[in-house]
Amino acid sequence: MINYSVGDDGVAVIEWDMPGRSMNVLNNDSIPAFAEAIKKAAEDDAVKGAVITSGKPDFIAGADLEMLQGWNGAEEMFENGMELQMMFRSIETSGKPFVAAINGTALGGGLEICLACHRRIAADNPKARIGLPEVKVGLLPGGGGTQRLPRMIGIQAALPLLLEGTHLNPAKAFKIGVVDEVVPADQLLDAARKWVADAGAEDAVQPWDRKGFRIPGGAPMSPNGMMTFTAGNAMLREKTSGNFPAALNIMSCVYEGCCVDINNGLKIETRYFVKTCGTPEAKNMIRSLFFGIGAANKLASRPKEIPTQKFTKVGVLGAGMMGAGIAYVTAMAGIDVVLIDQDQAAAERGKGYSQGLLEKAMKRKKMDQAKADAVLAKITPTTDYSQLDGAELVIEAVFENREIKADVTTKSEAVIASDAIFASNTSTLPITGLAEASDRPANFIGLHFFSPVDKMPLVEIICGKETSQETLARSMDYVKAIRKTPIVVNDSRGFYTSRVFGTYVNEGIAMLAEGINPALIDNAGKMSGMPVGPLALADEVALDLIYKIRNQTKTDLGDKYIAAPSDDAVTKMVEDLGRVGKREGKGFYDYPDGGQKHLWSGLAEQFPQLPEDEQPSVDEVIKRLIYIQSVETARCLEENVVTTPQDADVGSILGWGFAPARGGAISQIHTVGVDNFVAECDRLAQAYGARFTPPQNLRTMAEKGEQFYAA
Ligand code: NAI
Repeated sequence: MINYSVGDDGVAVIEWDMPGRSMNVLNNDSIPAFAEAIKKAAEDDAVKGAVITSGKPDFIAGADLEMLQGWNGAEEMFENGMELQMMFRSIETSGKPFVAAINGTALGGGLEICLACHRRIAADNPKARIGLPEVKVGLLPGGGGTQRLPRMIGIQAALPLLLEGTHLNPAKAFKIGVVDEVVPADQLLDAARKWVADAGAEDAVQPWDRKGFRIPGGAPMSPNGMMTFTAGNAMLREKTSGNFPAALNIMSCVYEGCCVDINNGLKIETRYFVKTCGTPEAKNMIRSLFFGIGAANKLASRPKEIPTQKFTKVGVLGAGMMGAGIAYVTAMAGIDVVLIDQDQAAAERGKGYSQGLLEKAMKRKKMDQAKADAVLAKITPTTDYSQLDGAELVIEAVFENREIKADVTTKSEAVIASDAIFASNTSTLPITGLAEASDRPANFIGLHFFSPVDKMPLVEIICGKETSQETLARSMDYVKAIRKTPIVVNDSRGFYTSRVFGTYVNEGIAMLAEGINPALIDNAGKMSGMPVGPLALADEVALDLIYKIRNQTKTDLGDKYIAAPSDDAVTKMVEDLGRVGKREGKGFYDYPDGGQKHLWSGLAEQFPQLPEDEQPSVDEVIKRLIYIQSVETARCLEENVVTTPQDADVGSILGWGFAPARGGAISQIHTVGVDNFVAECDRLAQAYGARFTPPQNLRTMAEKGEQFYAA
């Protein structure tokens, strides 16, 4: 677990190496073992000082969140939290020099151990990530991070690292003073030992334990500090609308903790840590962003017993926006890509997209020429289908047109092996229907990417009626290979993500048609935690696309089509006003050249507003925007379109940016309680229409007192 040895030089080496794990973490086993090693080094007169390092490729990944979940109640949490703080504190007050030899990634509690050491030396390992990412799962660093980091590098430099959870590489960490030295990896241990051997008594005292210590750049009450907090709080509000208690509490920790001495600062941090852990936001984010995404990335729902497929060659049909992106992420994963378009120039342009991305990465020093060349060499642009020979998978991203898609399916199947997979990246056409063009519908599947492909982490995998479990399993292997997160859904109009995402946009437009102030609608959208308001989003997606998909749905469903309350407003914008969205510079917003977008001044005339005293409250608008997505997601679960609450939550956050602090569309229901949610939806249905009516699965759960999640 923790190897302890003392050399002839009197330097103890405390080496983390937890058995059976690829990464070291702070948990109920490692913490006591580490505490014992610290004590041993501190108390043994023969030991001059100690090096803390790791026997694994990485240093320490942070605290085990499962351990945190096992801490019951605020009191136990405070006690355990303080015990950890005091153990870290014992490192810096031992009177002996301690150095962290950071060989690889050091995150969260791992970095906090380093901060409690008197010196930090990092190996020049470009893969190492150094940072305090707790805020990303709704938590705050509870091992002294909010106290030591500002005391070390100044409040202004520390706040972004704490509030954004930024990861630094060793060079960057050195530049801003988080580590003191970067050395070649093979000299790390020697450099660390030597520092301990040479250290004087002064070296074994932290700056903040010295007389007359001042926080670099000034304390919170200094003129600098005042400015930092005034601007910082305003920026935080602007960015997050107060939706992340962890970020607000980090601000408080730094402000209050840096006004007092370190011991009291640590106590303050622990209090806020306990408070933060108890928030629904922390529970939601840990559940979905950590455990949910983690399980999806490990392919938890992959059909078992089917051997893992390795991919060496993939065909991509259509070198437009999506195809070019798919080719790039595939080549980046070391897979050969045959990129086909109608003419050679179009195919070359598609490859050019990868070149552009690689050049950008090189400029940012994230890529070297040799690697970039190797990635580009993997992409063969062509018009020749015979080049698909040997591909284990072909993904089509040609125009959204059934006939064209059918044509490229036939052409590909004439070349590829009988067990190769054919996937469609269609955004709207049901997979079962597209599979009719295939001779091997069992090998036919939907792989729905999001734009821009290189940035968006999710792939929605869609099973048609005849898609085999083997095809599903192997497709999941591909998604894992390209380092994306898969969710598995069943065929339905709009699948899962587009279907539910559409309800958010439509509800916003419906409210506009009711006479609700458009500024209220879009501001409430952002305040709810969605990245963009629904009207601005409609402009981004393009109103003519929404119009086109709506008309197609109408044609396909005939009498079964249920008119949406947003329909007339969309028709008016597109047909009468020719305002189709951002692309053309005019939609619900105006987009002046070089200026900031603003709501179109003609909106009030086209959509007359209710008088001020009849406008709804912000809370009511937020509720409509959020609940409509959750109730539609519950319907998707009932119809088996999406099969697990976890996939629904992960897909909602990664697919269309559902408010992450709410944990996803189903976690939202879980947080308010299924019974409360059902009652509230019944009220909304009465007030605004049947689209809010809760599905039977929710009613049954409410009656039986069931929940989606245990915690
Ligand atoms: P695009 O218009 O940028 O690209 C389509 C490409 O397919 C063009 O380069 C075109 O020349 C090529 N193409 C057309 N017919 C072909 C044929 N017979 N053989 C070979 N190449 C052919 O379109 P985009 O946006 O890349 O969309 C492609 C597909 O991906 C569509 O089915 C779309 O619905 C879907 N999709 C689009 C998303 C988006 O955000 N744009 C998101 C997810 C899916």
